[in-house]
Order: sequence, then C-alpha cells, then structure tokens
Amino acid sequence: MKARIAVIGGDGIGPEVTAEAVRVLRRVAQHRGHDFTLTERPFGGIAIDQTGDPLPADTLSECLAADAVLLGAIGGPKWSDPKAKVRPEQGLLRLRKELGVYANLRPVRLHPALRDASTLKPEVLDGVDLIFVRELIGGIYFGAKTRTATDATDLCSYSVPEIERIVRVAAKLARARSGRLMSIDKANVLETSRLWREVCTRVMKEEFPDVKLEHQLVDSAAMLLIRKPRDIDVAVTENMFGDILTDEASMLAGSLGLLPSASLGDGNRGLYEPIHGSAPDIAGQGIANPAGAILSAALLLRHSLGLEAEAVAVEKAVAQVLADGVRTPDIAVPGTAPASTADVGAAVCAALDRLLTANKG
Ligand code: IPM
Ligand code: MG
Repeated sequence: MKARIAVIGGDGIGPEVTAEAVRVLRRVAQHRGHDFTLTERPFGGIAIDQTGDPLPADTLSECLAADAVLLGAIGGPKWSDPKAKVRPEQGLLRLRKELGVYANLRPVRLHPALRDASTLKPEVLDGVDLIFVRELIGGIYFGAKTRTATDATDLCSYSVPEIERIVRVAAKLARARSGRLMSIDKANVLETSRLWREVCTRVMKEEFPDVKLEHQLVDSAAMLLIRKPRDIDVAVTENMFGDILTDEASMLAGSLGLLPSASLGDGNRGLYEPIHGSAPDIAGQGIANPAGAILSAALLLRHSLGLEAEAVAVEKAVAQVLADGVRTPDIAVPGTAPASTADVGAAVCAALDRLLTANKG
C-alpha cells in the first residue's frame, strides 16, 4: 500500500528514538512491498530556534496532508523558562487540536521478560494488560488561562459531545476486550466530572448495555493502579487525569521508555508518539530506549494504515529483542552490558527479517 507519513522527531532524545522507528517502518515496507513516503519536519524547541514557532506552518500542513504522524518528544531546559512566551508544549497541544485527535490510547502490558525491571513487586504485575483512553483535546489543557502578579487561573470545561465521543471510543474497545469499562473522574468535587459521569452513564446504558461500567474517583484509581492493576482492563478519563495516571501506569511495564501511544480522531489519520518525554539529560548519548517509539510505529501500522499483520510482527519483534536481553540501560539486566538505541533498532529489524520472511508463503 501507499502511505504518506510525517515524521517530527522534535527535541532531546526524540530524533534518536524516532530514527529507529523509521528504520523499522522502512524495513516493514521493504518486506511487504509497501510504498511509504516519510517526510521529516522541524517541531518543538528546535522549531522555535529555527522559526520562532514550535509548530511552523509547513510542519502543520505536512501533518495535515499525511496519513499518519510519527512524533518523538519535545521540550527541554532551553525552552522552559517560566517567563517564556513561546513553549514547545504549545506546539504539541496545537498539533493535537488541529489534527482533531481527541482519543489518546495508551496500552500498558507487562512483558514477561521485564517483570523484574519494575520498581513494583513482580507478583503484582503478572498478567497486567490494560489500556487507558485519555481525552486529549479538551479540559484544563485547553481552557482560558489568566495570570496577574498575584493570581493565576486555568479553566477546565467539557461539553456533552466531547464526553460522548471519547466514551464511545473506550466502550468499543472494552466491548472487544473484557467487556468492562472503568471511567475515572473526581465527581465528588468537580462539576466537569459530574457532567462526565452523567453522560458516560447514559451513553453506556443506551448504546453499550452489554459493557459493564464502573466509576472510580481519580485518587482511588491512582491507588488501585498499583495495588491491583490486573483488575483494570479499559479505563477512560479526562485529559489531565489521563496524563498523570499514564505516567504512573508506565511503571507497571517496567519503564516509561517502553510505552507507545496512538491519538485518533474520527477518521483514520492518527498521531503516534511514545509517552515519554525528551529526556534532555540523556539526549545525544545513544542510550535512550527506542521501544516506545517503535511500538508507536506498530500502532500507526494498525490504526492508520490498517496493516494488522505488520503491526503484530513489529510487536513480536520488540518482544523477542527484549527477551533476548538486547536492552538499553533503563531496563538492562544487572551485570550485563546495556545495548545502545541503535543496537535495539538493529535487533528489531533483524527479528523482523526472520518473522516477515518466515510468514511470506
Ligand atoms: C504527554 C506529555 C504532554 C502532555 C506534555 C509534553 C504537554 O506529558 O503526552 O503525556 O501533558 O500531554
Ligand atoms: Mg504526560
């Protein structure tokens, strides 16, 4: 198939991990005879340096014209002065909004070979396989902000249609998985949460009576996530709660560096990014974990291009490489030499060569 993919590596370790994901996409294309056009564009802090804008017009138009966008990470100390007028994060939020990708899917699965890499007890982690559906283009992230010398405000608002559409995405996923959905809010305090709970309950009752709905308050959900993570299958929540809970959930998988994400709207176009940040402290050293970026490329193949077999092959290849012990320092087996970012990319490509050649006939 033919596909146009916009690649925006961004800042810090973003370009390094994205380069490995691109390598994997090219390898998949080569094996399966796909024609992927990959175009790279500046984004984030680096784009501020070049043009004054974290999301230059040309980058945005390339992303809008593409079938999918592969993003690395953005931000860094250079651009995080509290007085700064322009920030890399503004570019990311604008891009999400312009692409209309309101549903951010963040799957968290424990890879058996990594059960000792987490700071949590292995017996709590065994069998963890959950997915967060985070509302991505509403809530406090996008409300009006005010600031005086002595006060500041951030407005949080949600509308009925915004809640309905995200609940539907989560409910469809839940229906295809365990048939259970957890909705997370703070309805004992926030008005937006009370609306969220009301709309969620109605949509589920009217359209998904076969899916079992459970409401959890966000503080209690934060606890449950590390107390009994196996009890969670699909969880849907608003923008900021989702941001916080998914960093917490990443520890269930062993490392923040392992987690991919897919952000989708109503069509097939999507934005794919690892959930980790730009990690300026390790940038340029070639030691960042590219697994989250490579697994994001797998989600891109699945959700935007409809290439399920290829997506599964990439996921299998990453699992094999982790099991073989080719691991960056964040998850390296103690006493073994850690692999570099490029070593992991090369090992995934080699595993793909075996998987995709074997599957040809
Ligand atoms: C994420 C990140 C972003 C967010 C930042 C970089 C604006 O933390 O994707 O989780 O808060 O959404
Ligand atoms: Mg975050």
